[in-house]
This record gives sequence, C-alpha cells and structure tokens, in this order.
Amino acid sequence: MKALRALLVATAIAAAFGVAAIAPRAQEYDFDKPPVEPLDPVDLGIKIYKELGNCVSCHGWNGNGGNGVMLPDGGMLDAAPSFARSTMTRDEMIEIVSCGKLIPGNVMPSFREYAWTPQFPCGGKTEADVPGDQRPFIWEIPLYPEEVEAVVDWVIMAYQGKEFTLELCQRYYGPESRGCDLLK
Ligand code: HEC
Repeated sequence: MKALRALLVATAIAAAFGVAAIAPRAQEYDFDKPPVEPLDPVDLGIKIYKELGNCVSCHGWNGNGGNGVMLPDGGMLDAAPSFARSTMTRDEMIEIVSCGKLIPGNVMPSFREYAWTPQFPCGGKTEADVPGDQRPFIWEIPLYPEEVEAVVDWVIMAYQGKEFTLELCQRYYGPESRGCDLLK
C-alpha cells in the first residue's frame, strides 16, 4: 500500500504541475476498483482518507494540513488548510471533494467518479469547457458518492473545529501503533 500511495502522490503532483501529461481518466479504463467495501462508515472514511483518496498526503494524519507536499523537482506545495478551522458545511465539503479547487500554488484534486463530465458537471462545466490547466486535476482512483460522503463525515467527526483525539487516532492507526504517541 505504501508503494501505491507514493505512486498516487507522485502522479497527482506531476499532473497538478503539468510535469507529465495528465493521465487519462481512470474510469475510461477497465479499472477493477472493487465495489464499496462493507466497512463500518467510520472505517471506510479512514480507509479513503489514508489510502484510496490519500487525503493524508496533503491534509495530514491529524488534519492540520501537515507541512506541504514535496514536488518531484524538490520544491514544495503549500500546506493544505487545517480542518480544525474549517467553517464549511457538509454539503460544501462534499462539493469540494467531488469537484476539487484550483488555487495559486496549490490544488485540491477532484475525486468523484464522473466529475467534470456531463454526468456530473462541476460548477455547470465539464472537461470540454475548461482546459486542464485551469481546473483541478482529477484523481486517478475515482470515489463513489458514498465514499465521498464517508470521507467527509470522517473529516467532520475527527478534525473539523476540534483537536484530533487519542481515541480517534488509535482508530486511525490501530491501537498498537506509536503514531499517536504525540497525543498521549
Ligand atoms: C494534493 C493535495 C490535496 C489532496 C490529496 C487533498 N486535498 Fe483537500 N485541499 C487541498 C488544498 C490545497 C485545499 C484548499 C483549497 C482552498 O484554498 O480553498 C483543500 C481543501 C479541502 C477542503 C476544504 C477545507 C476548507 O474548509 O476550506 C476539504 C473538506 C478537503 N480539502 C478534503 C479533502 C479530502 C476528504 C481529501 C481526500 C479525499 C483531500 N482533501 C485531498 C489539498 C489537497
């Protein structure tokens, strides 16, 4: 899983900065992403945050935005915002996770399956209306709508308007991990 994560980050960043040609949409392939796993919704949210969506690479394990992400050329992306200070509603979060947002020097990718297509236009627009360098790049592993909701619910429950707790950290990393030592 580490290798997949590293690959995802590298691809995401390369795509964001035009380092490599933007990969075709994953859903154009015969992509064998399994159906939503029958996980508890909290565990599903965690799994997406850590693995499928790799939100952690930009937003950090404790949701504080981390230190920014290193680019292939050694430069750094700005840190993503801390969720502790987020004032977004659940619907607004679902919107930004689905469609993404491009800002100077940084990007929140677009995650939802079919985002920016006629099936799920973003701001009323599709890929055909907005050139690739003027919209957020589309994550290679698209998330199903219920996966977007699960990860947003994790963000709200674990991070928004609060400090990450030891209890939720241990759910995130597993009780044996020392990743939560800082919170003890
Ligand atoms: C490549 C880095 C990156 C990745 C990966 C990423 N984000 Fe973001 N995210 C950002 C940036 C940068 C912003 C700030 C956009 C802005 O300034 O409005 C942001 C903003 C957000 C916001 C809005 C916060 C607020 O109140 O303004 C939410 C919610 C969010 N991200 C959730 C997620 C989730 C959930 C995932 C994984 C499915 C994810 N992000 C993956 C970079 C990233």
